[in-house]
Amino acid sequence: MNGEAPVTVVGLGEMGRALADAFLAEGRPVTVWNRTAAKAEGVVTRGAVRAGSVAEAVTASPLVVVCLLDYSAVRETLEPVAPQLHGRTVVNLTNGTPVQAGEMAEWAAGHGADYLDGGIMAVPTTVATPEAFILYSGEQRVFDPLRGTLDVLGAAKYLGAEVGLASLYDLALLSGLNLMFDGFHHSVAMATSQKEGTAVGFTELLVPWLTNMAQLLPAFAAEVDADLDRDAEPQLTQGLDVQLVGLANIMNASREAGVSTAPLEPSLAGLKALLAEGRGVWSAPASVRQLRSGPPVG
Ligand SMILES: NC(=O)c1ccc[n+]([C@@H]2O[C@H](COP(=O)([O-])OP(=O)(O)OC[C@H]3O[C@@H](n4cnc5c(N)ncnc54)[C@H](OP(=O)(O)O)[C@@H]3O)[C@@H](O)[C@H]2O)c1
Repeated sequence: MNGEAPVTVVGLGEMGRALADAFLAEGRPVTVWNRTAAKAEGVVTRGAVRAGSVAEAVTASPLVVVCLLDYSAVRETLEPVAPQLHGRTVVNLTNGTPVQAGEMAEWAAGHGADYLDGGIMAVPTTVATPEAFILYSGEQRVFDPLRGTLDVLGAAKYLGAEVGLASLYDLALLSGLNLMFDGFHHSVAMATSQKEGTAVGFTELLVPWLTNMAQLLPAFAAEVDADLDRDAEPQLTQGLDVQLVGLANIMNASREAGVSTAPLEPSLAGLKALLAEGRGVWSAPASVRQLRSGPPVG
């Protein structure tokens, strides 16, 4: 149905160019706009039409894909062309928060435009490859007819009508990634504190270790869900005393190696908080509950 439907891409940074190229590679008519016009040159060479203004860009297609630095840039770019968005669909793939997504959806609806919010789980080089997936949220009646078109960019995963879901999951996935990288940096700093240690040699051990441990996550997740649904007693537990001794050993070894313990302090605070709650064991549901009820920091 959407095989030849034209699409407009607003924003030709690293990611926007990759998105435009993915649509072009499919043979779709693509109109592009970027604040710095020179960035359109490559995609124009490959067949895109360069719009002379944002208004010209958004009126060229029923579907307007937006990928800019942040939501302020999106508002700044789209607000002057609000009347021209009437009857069109805006798919906003800019990184932002659920609240920003909600405000954007409300703004679009106020101007008669359909709106989907998205989170790109890819880097520009993996867009349109089997590695890429993109999260979407917003009204299902808007998403369903566009699924085939959006699948071109990477597997389109629809999360639901609550428009903030895509950004929430996007940022939660990035949180997992950031904390994994923090763990990588800390463990490499420890391992390379001895002159025999190399980051490459250590990482040959770290990757299979983390890969094996990641296999435990679905079982932990099932216990978190059971806890939220019906307060079920977790089975996958470990004594808090064992956890605290283990963490103290890691932190002491870290100090002995002259490496900061800062990345480990939140883990220690978490275990101490479970102890303060009167718990004798660690479990994934208890840790998740505790994070969700704890005071926001920063
Ligand atoms: N790159 C990635 O690996 C990646 C992965 C997932 C998601 N994302 C998300 O994709 C979005 C774009 O990322 P990117 O890598 O393409 O960034 P980028 O290369 O820095 O491009 C930023 C884009 O935003 C535009 N822009 C910035 N401020 C603007 C303003 N006030 N008005 C109009 N346009 C403005 C820039 O226009 P000019 O060219 O005129 O400066 C450019 O098109 C971000 O939300 C990012 O988080 C990126």
